[in-house]
Amino acid sequence: MDHTQLEELRKLAEDAIRRAADIDALNQVRVSFLGKKGEITNLMKALRELPPDQKKIFGQKINEVRALIESELQTQLPILHRRMREARIQSETLDVTLPAKKRRFGHMHPNTRALEEVERIFIGMGYEVVEGPEIEYDLYNFEKLNIPKGHPARDEQDTFYINESILLRTQTSSVQARVMEKGKLPIRMICPGRVFRSDEVDATHSPSFHQIEGLVIDRHVSFSDLKGTLDTFAKELFGPETRTKLRPHHFPFTEPSAEVDVSCFKCGGKGCRFCKGEGWIEILGCGMVHPHVLEMCGIDPEKYSGFAFGVGLERIALLKYEIDDMRLLYENDSRFLEQF
Ligand code: DAH
Repeated sequence: MDHTQLEELRKLAEDAIRRAADIDALNQVRVSFLGKKGEITNLMKALRELPPDQKKIFGQKINEVRALIESELQTQLPILHRRMREARIQSETLDVTLPAKKRRFGHMHPNTRALEEVERIFIGMGYEVVEGPEIEYDLYNFEKLNIPKGHPARDEQDTFYINESILLRTQTSSVQARVMEKGKLPIRMICPGRVFRSDEVDATHSPSFHQIEGLVIDRHVSFSDLKGTLDTFAKELFGPETRTKLRPHHFPFTEPSAEVDVSCFKCGGKGCRFCKGEGWIEILGCGMVHPHVLEMCGIDPEKYSGFAFGVGLERIALLKYEIDDMRLLYENDSRFLEQF
């Protein structure tokens, strides 16, 4: 042990203290010099081996060095504290002038808006909203609606078959049969839902689209009830000036049957580009429920009568929001959807 050795140790310690980048590093320096197995402690232990006169001299010197190191550690501690705090503040700085991230809100799909509108109107007239399965028995989709195997009406509604007797429903009319079969009368319901046909995609066709079915069964329900109901519906949906016109038509499950046109809500019926010069726009099919259908669904046609109608939901949405291509409804392009 000599003075230069002690002097070097002091320099070494000072150096390490200054270089300590944070409190942890500083503590490590403290331990490595002043800790139980630290350099200074070791020197103290080594003193024992020295003759008494040297013991005193070096004992004093070591204590001086230890005091110096301790005071150096004390000075460095607040400096490091401050430095670490500044670094943290720097890294947490918020630039309040940065433009905020825009939160994008979703939009109700035009189909959904149109459906909610239709539901609102019929619920207001005391109708119940029911649903039925999209994968359906041939029995409900065709047979019980007066469309037996081999009936030409099946050609117009070709669909996707799961097997001989199960298919993807081509019309929400299938739910009519299900509701009637339950036997709870009177019935006043609408049934919205997805339907399927093996059609090619174009501006007015899609293999999957939506219909809203309506069914009313009670005693003494007449064709004029049907006409009045649909007239009210059209006025609510397209405005109070709207007039309705029924054209004779054929559906296997209604008799008599009709297609319903509404006066063009763009030109009021004079004829314009929107109604292709007709003044009228077709919106749905309807009729008085065929007695044979009632019978097949367990309802006595002598006691009960009723009417039914079927609306294409996309058709309503396209008309109401003046969209000229059905495909736009399925592309889910937010730039399109945001407009409604
Ligand atoms: N289901 C028919 C179709 O898809 C629409 C329809 C017409 C439904 C007349 C009815 C109705 O309930 O009475 O073409």
